[in-house]
Amino acid sequence: MNELLTPHEFTNHDAALAKAEQGVANLASVRNNRWYPRFHIASNGGWINDPNGLCYYGGRWHVFYQLHPYGTQWGPMHWGHVSSEDMLHWQREPIAFAPSLEEERNGVFSGSAIVDEHGDVRFFYTGHRWANGTDNTGGEWQVQMLATPENPNDAHLQRLTKRGVVVDCPREQVHWHFRDPKVWNTDGTWYMTFGVSSADQRGQMWLYTSTDLEHWSFDRVLFEHPDPNVFMLECPDFFPVTAPDGSQKWVIGFSAMGAKADGFMNRNTNNAGYMIGTWNPGESFQPETEFRLWDWGHNFYAPQSFTAPDGRQIMYGWMSPFVQPIPMENDGWCGQLTLAREITLGEDGDLHTTPMRELEGLRGSTKDFDNSTLGVNEELLIADTATATELEIEFDLTQSTAERISLHVHETQDGSFTNVAFDAQMGRIVLDRVANARGDKGYRAAPLDAAELQSSHLRLRVFVDRGSVEVYVNDGHQVLSSYSLPSSGPRAIRLIAESGTATINRLVRHELKSIGLE
Ligand code: FRU
Repeated sequence: MNELLTPHEFTNHDAALAKAEQGVANLASVRNNRWYPRFHIASNGGWINDPNGLCYYGGRWHVFYQLHPYGTQWGPMHWGHVSSEDMLHWQREPIAFAPSLEEERNGVFSGSAIVDEHGDVRFFYTGHRWANGTDNTGGEWQVQMLATPENPNDAHLQRLTKRGVVVDCPREQVHWHFRDPKVWNTDGTWYMTFGVSSADQRGQMWLYTSTDLEHWSFDRVLFEHPDPNVFMLECPDFFPVTAPDGSQKWVIGFSAMGAKADGFMNRNTNNAGYMIGTWNPGESFQPETEFRLWDWGHNFYAPQSFTAPDGRQIMYGWMSPFVQPIPMENDGWCGQLTLAREITLGEDGDLHTTPMRELEGLRGSTKDFDNSTLGVNEELLIADTATATELEIEFDLTQSTAERISLHVHETQDGSFTNVAFDAQMGRIVLDRVANARGDKGYRAAPLDAAELQSSHLRLRVFVDRGSVEVYVNDGHQVLSSYSLPSSGPRAIRLIAESGTATINRLVRHELKSIGLE
């Protein structure tokens, strides 16, 4: 037995969970639904951040997330939980973790799940303490911990048993940050990586190995970020992908703290992205690409992926409200996850992330607009009022002369809207919130490559929920996810050909059903 595996309870877990459920219920009872999602995962009440413990177990999809049950700002972390049989209808499950052990006294931080070859599930997460016992001024003390289901036959995973620490922190080699374990198996050996700020404050991912998932030993530094400004890699991810020619690559993903904005890149407070490269056991990761963003929107962070039983790599991100004001904090809830995305490596050597194909099942009534050309400065009203809508749009750029083809979403009678635009001058897809009445403003702009810019079929899938918009460009070659918090009254969607024409090959509007968490 691993002597580290001794849970040291400072409070009763069941009592802490019951108290947290009450905290969420109190906030849910005063919740305002004006921006509360219909088809994205959010907590009933309270603050959420990172997706955690993603897995398919017992015939159900499980999504856990960082939860603060007592307020709408970040605070002592718990794990909330929802599950679904089909990715379309979700149900709330009991809160999975509240701080109850010494080693996680100030928070049950992010972590992941694995389902082993026998079908057993295990959860690895970070136990967090403030080093001075009270606040962040004295640094952090973090360790990696294990949990297992109390009843493996419960497909709902309603009760998890904490098993204690599996990786302690060599604190003299670490500057505070040591968290967010991700576990996988290669050739019969278990590997764990997590984010570390080294003693000289470089952002690193460390690699540990195990044969039994309980005893772990340090193997090497898997990766160090080349930018000395980057001091921590939060929520690291590491998985293989198969290229169209059958060759295997490895993807390293992380949420980098400290990188400076550079042109259109890294505009958010912290930014999540990936590199593609190679890895073999006994080696460090060898990147073959530069750092690329998973998502160019204002609000995307801390994604986590997992492997579905059919081999697809599925990712959820957190729509992080980085910048004040954050108006939903006054509504009893704060924060939602993105849609589930399938990650694939395309012919172009880049990753594509498209909404998981199951999500087409959310489509209810559909309106197919005829293909048409908007004349110079002409407008087309796509919806008078839309709260849960998906648009499929295809433009012929070879025939369009507009300097900008703008799609106003959440357009309200006070004149505010969010603009999703193909900007011909910039050569980018722009998500612009400058005309928003509420919340953080600013714009973000995702690149199009030379072929995409001359394409007769630029494709956009735009998902408009009550308080957010997600834009998938050319089957997920680029994505932008942002909060968009409309004013009161009907929320129109309108297309405008600015100072030129826009040729539309295809325009379809789908009303989307609720996923059942409202
Ligand atoms: C990322 C993060 C993780 C940490 C968690 C705490 O958003 O800071 O590194 O485990 O959130 O809530």
